[in-house]
Amino acid sequence: MTVASDEHLRRLPKVELHCHIEGASRAATIAELAGANGVELPVDDPADLYKFTSLNQFLDIYGVVCASLQSADDFHRIAYECFEDAAGAGIRYCETFFSPGFVIKLGVPVSTVWEGVSAAVVDARADLDIFCRMVLDFDKPSGPGHALEMAEFAAAQDRDLLIGMGADSVERGVDHTVFADAYAAAGRAGLKRTMHAGEDGPADNIAVAVRDCGCDRIDHGFRLLDDPALTDEIVDRRIPLTVCPTSNLIIKLVPDIESHPFARQRERGVLAMLNSDDPGMMRFSLADEYVTVARAFGYSLEEMEAVSLDGIEASWAPDDEKAALRRRFEAEFDDLRSEYGLEARAA
Ligand code: ADE
Ligand code: ZN
Repeated sequence: MTVASDEHLRRLPKVELHCHIEGASRAATIAELAGANGVELPVDDPADLYKFTSLNQFLDIYGVVCASLQSADDFHRIAYECFEDAAGAGIRYCETFFSPGFVIKLGVPVSTVWEGVSAAVVDARADLDIFCRMVLDFDKPSGPGHALEMAEFAAAQDRDLLIGMGADSVERGVDHTVFADAYAAAGRAGLKRTMHAGEDGPADNIAVAVRDCGCDRIDHGFRLLDDPALTDEIVDRRIPLTVCPTSNLIIKLVPDIESHPFARQRERGVLAMLNSDDPGMMRFSLADEYVTVARAFGYSLEEMEAVSLDGIEASWAPDDEKAALRRRFEAEFDDLRSEYGLEARAA
């Protein structure tokens, strides 16, 4: 078993499949945009903005962040900064969420959001060592009509830039079966499908996502192991979970990372990989997450390299891109081991 230093783990090449551009926003950027757009923040010091201890409190602040975003340029800025910060955390490939439901309610059209976000994806691909695709998350509490509208909007965009549709916000009090039609429309348009499910809601929502809504992936899936038959199905069908342990800790789903089901999910054969969820608002990065998880579960370097490679498998990148990413990651693993004076990977 090889034990890696914190710095080594932080520098591992990574994939991220569960990060929200709004939740990735820097407090200073939101303060500046709120000022420019005449939006009053509920705090004097922008650093005080990002304080919450439950999903509902977090989503209230998420609403304040979204109210500060009004023009295509605003969305370009937060998306581009999200990719800059991701590249800094060692992320080489990402599929990243944007959630227009909040700003649509405030009168900003989804086309304005997408104009800024899609331009940021193109710019980041050109400027940074990270390759990004976007996933449009609809807002579950806004209901099935909004979901269908978002599926139709997503269907009309360039699939290489907008690869899939997801769903976020609260689970409690939401009947997840009502989204089946919107997901069917997304599937017919060739969009990949995912859903936040089993985060602060039951494993039943994961079942609805994969059985009724045709989801290819599950975001969080924190409660999956509560349902052994569903777990067997998720393992057999190799449906990935985009797991976010520190985010779950911050909203108090677990008292500490050691109690998080990530390690048990992996032992059970689930394709569970690591993500930051809302790195700006929660004030940590995927590089921090790799260190936290490795220490909490006593993972070796080999295990953390495997977690990183599982991110490639869990992604929706075409097969040739996945193969190229795998080759690149393995070459980087070898270079890092050699730089830190560690034994080479087993052949
Ligand atoms: N939107 C951003 N982060 C979220 C989370 N963790 N759960 C639900 N909706 C979200
Ligand atoms: Zn999320």
